[in-house]
Amino acid sequence: MKRLLAKREQARLGGGEKRITAQHNKGKMTARERVDLLLDEGSFEEYDMFVSHRTTDFGLGDEHYPSDGVITGHGTIAGRLVYVFSQDFTVFGGSLSETNAKKICKVMDQAMKVGAPLIGINDSGGARIQEGVRSLAGYASIFQRNIMASGVIPQISAIFGPCAGGAVYSPALTDFIVMAEKTSYMFVTGPKVVKTVTGETITEEDLGGASVHATKSGVTHFVGANEHEGILLIKKLLSYLPQNNLEEPPLSFCDDPSDRLVDELNTIIPEKPSIPYDVKDIIHAIADNGEFLEVQRQYARNIVTGFVTFSGISTGIVANQPNYLAGCLDNDASRKAARFVRFCDAFNIPIVTLVDVPGFLPGSAQEFNGIITNGAKLLFAYGEATVPKITVILRKAYGGAYCVMSSRHLRGDINYAWPSAEIAVMGPTGATEVLYNRDLKSFTSNEERAAFVTEKENEYRDKFANPYEAAKYGYIDDIIEPRNTRFRIIRALQTLATKKDSNPLKKHSTLPL
Ligand code: HXC
Repeated sequence: MKRLLAKREQARLGGGEKRITAQHNKGKMTARERVDLLLDEGSFEEYDMFVSHRTTDFGLGDEHYPSDGVITGHGTIAGRLVYVFSQDFTVFGGSLSETNAKKICKVMDQAMKVGAPLIGINDSGGARIQEGVRSLAGYASIFQRNIMASGVIPQISAIFGPCAGGAVYSPALTDFIVMAEKTSYMFVTGPKVVKTVTGETITEEDLGGASVHATKSGVTHFVGANEHEGILLIKKLLSYLPQNNLEEPPLSFCDDPSDRLVDELNTIIPEKPSIPYDVKDIIHAIADNGEFLEVQRQYARNIVTGFVTFSGISTGIVANQPNYLAGCLDNDASRKAARFVRFCDAFNIPIVTLVDVPGFLPGSAQEFNGIITNGAKLLFAYGEATVPKITVILRKAYGGAYCVMSSRHLRGDINYAWPSAEIAVMGPTGATEVLYNRDLKSFTSNEERAAFVTEKENEYRDKFANPYEAAKYGYIDDIIEPRNTRFRIIRALQTLATKKDSNPLKKHSTLPL
């Protein structure tokens, strides 16, 4: 017993007091402190505490630390089972050795067998240099498991320190990445290599810090002000997710009445169609208790994605944001929303789409960066999704973007429109220019030309800038009073709870990547 307790005590010290202090001085928690904060008290069951590396090169034969730089095991979060690995920077900089990788693979395999989420906490100097190809083999074994687990169990990566080189690809293969401001960074090649190869001088923070990945690359989905906040975000996120792809998401307790009317929504759309508003006001107003967990909040802000509950039913929200780029679909927004839709579909989370989109963003920058392929991703994601899909057209639904945003024609289950909806091939100005091109050229007086344009635009608006034309063809199931939106969505979700739909059998699709 004494020997066991002493060995446990030694393992818990990781790389020793000095390195633990250094870790704290950097504003970082240790691997074990993170696990303690993440899991329900007393629920952690650790595996492989006494595992040690097998390398003798570079003097490592005499340098052993039980656990070998990664803490692994399972526990519960809000009473639900999760598997976890947490890299220990105090042991060889958390670097990945052969044995360290085997520990990670063991919990990944078990998470897959029992169907429970996997959470990886990354804080590592990358491949353990002394182990050469054995370390690289370890990485590849983890990647393969990430790939097999994709769409089967939720995989979440926290980045709470360095994550560089090929090591970035395990988090990149998972469903969600959470970073902490100032203490975490991710890049394929660090500042020194960048300087050597390209001559560019750049800091770690500017190259791969949390704010860069939140705003520019879109690599991270959440950013915590610190690790503590990052861990709380993981817990909140899990509350919306099922344990695996064969289960339904948990039904949350809800004390917000499902028939709550939201009167202010009747006047939220500005009189003039060119005036923006914040679609998040609508999301907060209709969700249970106004709660919304936004995913990729700072990236591609012209589309809003995230999780809410409706009368306790976990639901993914996709909404065009008129407050940013008028809510146009562009390359980044299309990719962001496509990924989110596919995640929801993989994990049986219904999708509510709020539409106010003037179209795809025009211009050479968009075309050169592949808006054709990227727009197709979102189209594909919606068309492929078999979860309940409810759409509410709030205002504009123009052109291809009307088709893409969960239209009835892409197997949308219930499609509503507000009375303010405008559904047409394009806006009145563009349409008038195309339809009356020849007439417009014939005018010699500017006033007469302007009067003609106004007349034709009004004519067009009367005909198409309303939801009744689409409702006439049954493309819209009903035109609803905005204040009833929460109630109507909840009833739709409850109605669709037993929905069954499927896609033709195939090896996999050829999604335009
Ligand atoms: C072995 C490592 C290590 C590594 C750090 N250490 N990285 N040991 N292999 N990859 C050790 C250090 O020797 C040191 O040991 C301790 O960890 C802490 O490191 P420091 O350098 O003192 O810490 P810090 O100043 O905070 O710098 C952290 C760091 C730096 C930026 C991560 O250590 C670093 O640049 N490491 C190398 C990163 C790298 O190039 N890795 C390979 C990437 S390529 P002591 O005994 O002093 O505590 C890769 C390929 C993966 O990973 C491919 C997958 C497909």
